[in-house]
Amino acid sequence: MQEGIKVLLGKSVREGKKIYWEPKREKNPHLVVVGTSGSGKTETLRSIILELKRQNVPSIIIDFHAEFRDVADQVINLRDLTINPLEIELGRRPQDVVYEVANIMKKIFSLGDQQEALLRQAIRRCYEDNRINILNPVYSNMKAPPFMDIKDKINEIYDESDSISRNTLFSLTNRIEALFEVDIFFKENTIIPFDTIIRKTTSIELKDFPTEDIKSVIAEFFLNKLIYYLYKAGKSDSMRLHCVIDEAHRLTYEGSPLDRLLRESRKYGTGIILSSQRPSDFSETILANSGGIISLQCSLEKDAKFVARQMNLDFIDVKNLTDVGSGFVKFSSDNVSRKIKIQHINERLTEEEKSEIERKLRQFERLVIKVEEKKKRKVKPKKRRKLRPAKKILKSKKSKKEKTKRLTICRNCLYGNEKDALYCTECGARL
Ligand SMILES: Nc1ncnc2c1ncn2[C@@H]1O[C@H](COP(=O)(O)OP(=O)(O)OP(=O)(O)O)[C@@H](O)[C@H]1O
Ligand SMILES: [Mg+2]
Repeated sequence: MQEGIKVLLGKSVREGKKIYWEPKREKNPHLVVVGTSGSGKTETLRSIILELKRQNVPSIIIDFHAEFRDVADQVINLRDLTINPLEIELGRRPQDVVYEVANIMKKIFSLGDQQEALLRQAIRRCYEDNRINILNPVYSNMKAPPFMDIKDKINEIYDESDSISRNTLFSLTNRIEALFEVDIFFKENTIIPFDTIIRKTTSIELKDFPTEDIKSVIAEFFLNKLIYYLYKAGKSDSMRLHCVIDEAHRLTYEGSPLDRLLRESRKYGTGIILSSQRPSDFSETILANSGGIISLQCSLEKDAKFVARQMNLDFIDVKNLTDVGSGFVKFSSDNVSRKIKIQHINERLTEEEKSEIERKLRQFERLVIKVEEKKKRKVKPKKRRKLRPAKKILKSKKSKKEKTKRLTICRNCLYGNEKDALYCTECGARL
């Protein structure tokens, strides 16, 4: 870790002295920010990212709502990349991947134990049907089955099952089906340019994915790939990067990729900066073991009590903070909580930095427009396959009239539109 990284957070309310976060001085380079909605968490993270960037420490930002474009050097829309969660890193057993992937999906989609077990069975089959022994560690690059195969295996299991399992499979299908419509999973290989990503402050945007659950599950798969990238890159005493996750409550649970990052990333020169509205979203272990905690206002008494306990404060002080961006900060090195006013990013940016940001955002908008135009031009006919269990049941509910309804086929992309449609729903071409 580089000596001397000093991140200006703001000023102490009592003495007016500048307060810095110095990751190197703490027991680890992780920082947790908590606070009620509107208390200033995102702004705090944006300021920290800027300060790190100024000291040549890049960040990877998991950006659920495109709130970090201006502080990033580059923006990557995860939709433009591919991830295969079934890929097996060298030295690992497919069986481990089976459990890992099923567990991530279980937590995010709130699956029950039986649903998870059936999902595991389907994932296991993806490997076995490709003659991959799931118990043997993999020591050479092998072709992994594509993630989309899972839905075919669920269909197979459905066909072989009794009615009780069919019900479980049907509800499993309903919960996860939308995930198989996401085109980042279509390929066999994961294509994420981590070498480029970790060199510059990069915002990984997830805003274009259809649902919050899908955004979360994809963020998990991404973090998992990041972990294995870091393992491959090897240990490092110097600070390579920070991984910033706003609204981290979506991803915190025992055994999650984030949990692993928190425990292991320090060795690989990576710090984690998290924020969440509810302090109890983080386990006491996470809070107790992070190098620093910033608590902005926590208006719920329960939350204020939880965080006050971690920071040796009176909960009333945490609950009664009213000024946006003011809060308490405590570092592992001094164990004392100090009241702080976080400096807003607008007060930090120089005129040069502001015009550079404006230029970058304009350039970025032009890029987005170009990409979208390009996409429109090359729309491929999409396979509109659904998972069979859901389809079977839905099919039987269709009226005769609906079944015989004629479609207008788009000449551009071959998508079947409503009979009277003027424009194609899929590619926008005139019919
Ligand atoms: N340190 C600060 N000084 C002055 N204003 C601030 C500060 N931090 C945040 N604000 C302002 O408060 C508003 C809310 O801030 P922000 O979006 O960061 O809240 P949040 O905690 O992330 O909320 P949510 O949980 O809903 O995402 C913004 O308009 C922001 O500019
Ligand atoms: Mg926010």
